[in-house]
Amino acid sequence: MKQLIAANWKMYKKWEEALSTAREILVGTHKQLPDNREVLIFPSFPLLKVVSEIIAEQKGYYLGGQNFYPALEGAFTGEVSPVQLLDLGCSYALVGHSERRHIFKEDDSFLAKKVKFGLEQGLKIVFCIGEKLEERKANKVKEVLLYQLETGLQDIVLEDSETLTIAYEPVWAIGTGEVANTEDILEAHKIIRDFLKERFKFGEEIRILYGGSVKPANASQILSLDNVNGVLVGGASLSADSFNQIILA
Ligand code: G3P
Repeated sequence: MKQLIAANWKMYKKWEEALSTAREILVGTHKQLPDNREVLIFPSFPLLKVVSEIIAEQKGYYLGGQNFYPALEGAFTGEVSPVQLLDLGCSYALVGHSERRHIFKEDDSFLAKKVKFGLEQGLKIVFCIGEKLEERKANKVKEVLLYQLETGLQDIVLEDSETLTIAYEPVWAIGTGEVANTEDILEAHKIIRDFLKERFKFGEEIRILYGGSVKPANASQILSLDNVNGVLVGGASLSADSFNQIILA
C-alpha cells in the first residue's frame, strides 16, 4: 500500500503561483520520491489545468478536484461535474471536507450521493470525516466517526481498494496548529480501520490519511503510526519547500 501525500490548496493561489509551486514540488521531489509514496494535489478549479500540465505523465503524481456536484451536466450554476474534473486530468476528488460540511452545510445524505456518483464516474474519492472539539470533549469521537462513515458510504460497492480513501481530519486541528496527538490519531484510525474491515472485503487495504496541522516537523512521526497511510495537508502544502519536506519525510 503506497502512502499518499496530498495537498489541499483550498481557495488559495493565482495562476502564476500555482504554476511555480507545482513545478517546484515536481522538480524538488521526483528524483527522490520513495517507491512507496504518491503525491496528490487538490488545486482550486481555475488552477486544475495549469497544475495538470505540470504533473501530467509524471509517475507518482496525481491531480484531484476539491469538490463536485453529483450530476453529469446541467443547469447547476457555479458547480462543476465529475466529467469536467476527469476531462481536466483529475483522477481524485475530495468529498465531505469539514469546510464543505460546516461552512457550506453539505449534509451526510448529500455527501453519500456525491461519493456514489463520483465513484460511478470513475473518480477516486477521498472521503473526509472528523469530529468537532465539542464532540471530542463530550467523548463522542467514535459515535461521530462511525455515523459519518455509515451514512457517507451507505450505498457504496467497491471494485477495489484504490478507489476509496478516508481522510480523518479532526475539525479542531484544521488550520489551528493544534495537531492531534499520537494517541488521538491511533484511536481514530483504529476506529476507521475496524469499520472498513467490517464493511468492505478490501477494508484492510483502503488508505486512511490524517489531516489537521501536518507540518514538516511532525509529518515523519505521523506517517509512522499504525493505520496512517498518508496525510492531507492544507497550509503547509501552499509552500513547495514545506510540502516537499513532508513528501520526503
Ligand atoms: O484538507 C486538509 C486541511 O483541512 C488541513 O489543513 O492547514 O491544518 O493542514 P491544515
